[in-house]
Amino acid sequence: MIHFTNINDLGNLQKAVQEALEIKKNPMQNKALGEGKTICMLFFNNSLRTRLSTQKAAQNLGMNVIVMNFGSEGWELEYEDGAVMNGSKSEHVKEAAKVIAQYCDIVAIRAFASLTDKEKDQAEIVISSFKKYAGIPVVNMESATGHPLQALADAITMEEFKTAHKPKVVLSWAPHPKALPHAVANSFVEMMQLQDADFVITHPEGYELDPDITKNSTIEHNQEKAFENADFVYVKNWSSFKDYGRVMNSDSAWTITAEKMQLTNNAKFMHCLPVRRNVIVTDEVIDSENSIVIQQANNRTYSAQIVLKKILESHG
Ligand code: CP
Repeated sequence: MIHFTNINDLGNLQKAVQEALEIKKNPMQNKALGEGKTICMLFFNNSLRTRLSTQKAAQNLGMNVIVMNFGSEGWELEYEDGAVMNGSKSEHVKEAAKVIAQYCDIVAIRAFASLTDKEKDQAEIVISSFKKYAGIPVVNMESATGHPLQALADAITMEEFKTAHKPKVVLSWAPHPKALPHAVANSFVEMMQLQDADFVITHPEGYELDPDITKNSTIEHNQEKAFENADFVYVKNWSSFKDYGRVMNSDSAWTITAEKMQLTNNAKFMHCLPVRRNVIVTDEVIDSENSIVIQQANNRTYSAQIVLKKILESHG
């Protein structure tokens, strides 16, 4: 594997999940693999789980780790070819990416969607520029359109908790006061398309995700109907894709409650975190035995570790 910017870069999701579960049994088993190698983790946006779990994964592999809060500490980057840089942007990504690549062997980047410029967000301007100019492997730690490390952790977690041979998995929209990106939902959908599962997406009308990502996935606008017999309920807010970045409603009728979970097949409750309690989900649900959000966050380490391991093995 050269880069990891999409869940499909893994090649075989099921195999990667099994390998991650093996790593989880003995996380230090490949401690020599990353010796003498360095990862630069660049954060254009805030993080708790991604930052700590990816750093831990790299250290488990024996790597050196450099972390930079690029959004607040780096020079503001220009991405346009031929730009006359007489505004606020101090450095072109062409130099920045090449310079950073001299200090490390892998660069991992978090750069969220602007939610104001759909074309640039869809073009993945930050990730694609680093891929183009850095000349070293690039890892997506949540970009404008995807969060594949989260989706891989979600796949690992579902593998651990599944009981039904072919589970029913529901991705449900839930309300949030702010406009949130589509990245987590997109990568979850892409990951579920690689699974042997009955997969249903439920959201209010107008919250359709990118049709190029949802493809033939089942969409049910009646949340309660979607929840019937579900084995996993994965909850996430996202803003409108069509009316890009708009919050069209924050209808509390879509909040995940114990009553709605009663409709399921004793489903596990999943969320990538951070989560707004009693807006997205009630305390009763997230504090219940069926909530596996903490286990999901734990699996972020093994998700990152299998990805870094595969990249290190490919690059020698
Ligand atoms: N789920 C997730 O990516 O968490 P952070 O934003 O805290 O990294």
